[in-house]
Amino acid sequence: GFKRRTAGSGKTAKELRGDYSAIAGDFTVEQGWERHTAAEHALWRALYRRQSRLLPRYAAPEFMDCLARLEAEDGIPDFRRASDRLQAATGWRLVAVPGLIPEDAFFDHLAARRFPVSTWLRRPEEMDYLEEPDVFHDFFGHVPLLLHPIFADYLQAYGEGGQRALRLGRIEHLARLYWYTVEFGLIAGADGLRVYGAGILSSAGETPFAVESPSPNRIGFDLERVMRTRYRIDDYQQTYFVIDSYQQLFDATAVDFAPVYDRVADRPDLPPDAVLADDRVLTRGTQERVRAPAAE
Ligand code: PHE
Ligand code: FE
Repeated sequence: GFKRRTAGSGKTAKELRGDYSAIAGDFTVEQGWERHTAAEHALWRALYRRQSRLLPRYAAPEFMDCLARLEAEDGIPDFRRASDRLQAATGWRLVAVPGLIPEDAFFDHLAARRFPVSTWLRRPEEMDYLEEPDVFHDFFGHVPLLLHPIFADYLQAYGEGGQRALRLGRIEHLARLYWYTVEFGLIAGADGLRVYGAGILSSAGETPFAVESPSPNRIGFDLERVMRTRYRIDDYQQTYFVIDSYQQLFDATAVDFAPVYDRVADRPDLPPDAVLADDRVLTRGTQERVRAPAAE
């Protein structure tokens, strides 16, 4: 379950899956929680159970603690109830959206501590693969860490940074930061490598792959390195960047990005599987998954 939210999907509302007919000016809709069927709630529980079994081995402990506090195992959550809990903890609220929304609207929501969550749920035959974010990816993957004080501040700062990057014409570089942290980030904790990225944690295949597979590179987080690195939207990642702590991530991104963007733009972009001489390499990947996709 990956998606391209801040990079823009390149699709028009007509080509997207959600129902955009009733959007407000800020692209929000009513969640319509009452309209979810028993079958949808059952599919949610199946997805939830499958991912939960993987978490003790692969997820960052903070993610698990926060997820438990959301009490979302029984069915598709009511966003209003979850928002009340979030607001009391870190000041965030959830807003319902039909699916992908334009970058400027997305950044405005984040900057105001509102997290956009899609209302639709995948079909049963899509348990494993999705091109657009559904409510399971958005809620299960992203919402738990909104309860984490440092990560909650990071995401708001990212929203403000997005508004600024749009003005500066640097969205592509900023989007890579979101991709390699919020969506596909790993953290080196007391128990070794763990996942905190939502794009991984909502995927049953990529969760073990990201931590255990010999295929991908795992490289210590470096802001400019991340901003230079292109990413895959059609397969598991070829490189994961590893933070040591959420505080490290927050501090590394609290600097003025204007000169950072200038430096990054002066150097060539890197392919998704690059390994550089001055990288802090934790694992040098074999990239075998990419050379032999049929083995999957
Ligand atoms: N420091 C960034 C800027 O000057 C804003 C930002 C913070 C972006 C955190 C991403 C994450 O634009
Ligand atoms: Fe996402």
